[in-house]
Amino acid sequence: MAIEIERCKNPKAKPDAATLGFGRYFTDHMLVMEHDEDGWHDAKIVPYGPFAMEPSSMVIHYGQSVFEGMKAYRTPEGKINLFRPEENFKRINLSCERLCIPKVDEKYLLETLIELVSLEKDWVPDAPDTSLYIRPFIFANDPFIGVKASTRYIYCVILSPVGAYYAEGLKPVKIYVEDEYVRAVKGGMGFTKTAGNYAASLLAGEIAHQKGYSQVLWLDGITHKNVEEVGSMNIFFKFKDELVTPALNGSILGGITRKSIVELARHMGLTVNERTLPIEEVFERHAKGELEEVFGSGTAAVVSPVSELKMNDRAITINNGEMGELTGKLYDTLTGIQWGKIEDPFGWTMEVK
Ligand code: COI
Repeated sequence: MAIEIERCKNPKAKPDAATLGFGRYFTDHMLVMEHDEDGWHDAKIVPYGPFAMEPSSMVIHYGQSVFEGMKAYRTPEGKINLFRPEENFKRINLSCERLCIPKVDEKYLLETLIELVSLEKDWVPDAPDTSLYIRPFIFANDPFIGVKASTRYIYCVILSPVGAYYAEGLKPVKIYVEDEYVRAVKGGMGFTKTAGNYAASLLAGEIAHQKGYSQVLWLDGITHKNVEEVGSMNIFFKFKDELVTPALNGSILGGITRKSIVELARHMGLTVNERTLPIEEVFERHAKGELEEVFGSGTAAVVSPVSELKMNDRAITINNGEMGELTGKLYDTLTGIQWGKIEDPFGWTMEVK
């Protein structure tokens, strides 16, 4: 498939792989496609650069926008892999449906993404633990300030060479359990990847940072009793006899890394339960010595060990503050598949030529 490509005239110097961090650098090109009364049309690759938007653009006022996060990985042979990209495009349409955004042809999104990544191949870093983060997003763009669904939209994909999401890298992170503010409630938009969910998380995140915690663990928005997710990642608890992650109940994001960990852990022979998990059970089973490991999962965060959970005046240290054996094994296996270092028995990776 050929789409129109307008090449950039002044390619940028590639950043030093050792100082990438997360989300600071962007490649030379981006993909754009518009939606209007003629539907989605005219996908093209253009130089990375600003949009011209009216101050009345609806997204600015009412937040009608969705996004995705995925990565391209450089294998030891120098090939480039995507990881389960069709899952991201399935999910973007799930988000679109909830936000009254016209759905997009998932096959076409994948084909155009492959074109973009192929053009920007040289931007996929090869240093250990680095990758090219892919951010597809859609936003409403009618110049109108009445509250309704927009008719015009822009779909765009930008690419960013990245290292670890957390400054801590693979060092375990400390998490604050939030029992006052909530991220989402059932019936709301918690299961979607929409900007507002992240805006809703900022205040509690700042308070947690001031207290020395890097992330917030959200509880359900109605009873404030059950564990949900961290916002930038889903969460897993390894008890003596089971690996537990909260069931997808409508207010939790269905992470693709989450889904892959569940499948991987079952493949390894573990009992994995997706169920309601009261935070009290976490504290009680920790007191009984049954809580062995806690880790988060996400495209950006990958598999991220948790060293401490704090809720009001209670704090528990997990696995002496160190990364647990299962967490390390899941990290190594998942990233081994993604970076093409070990065999992919699941058919999750897709090579970009
Ligand atoms: C991702 O993991 O790709 C996300 O979208 C999380 C984001 C907050 C960086």
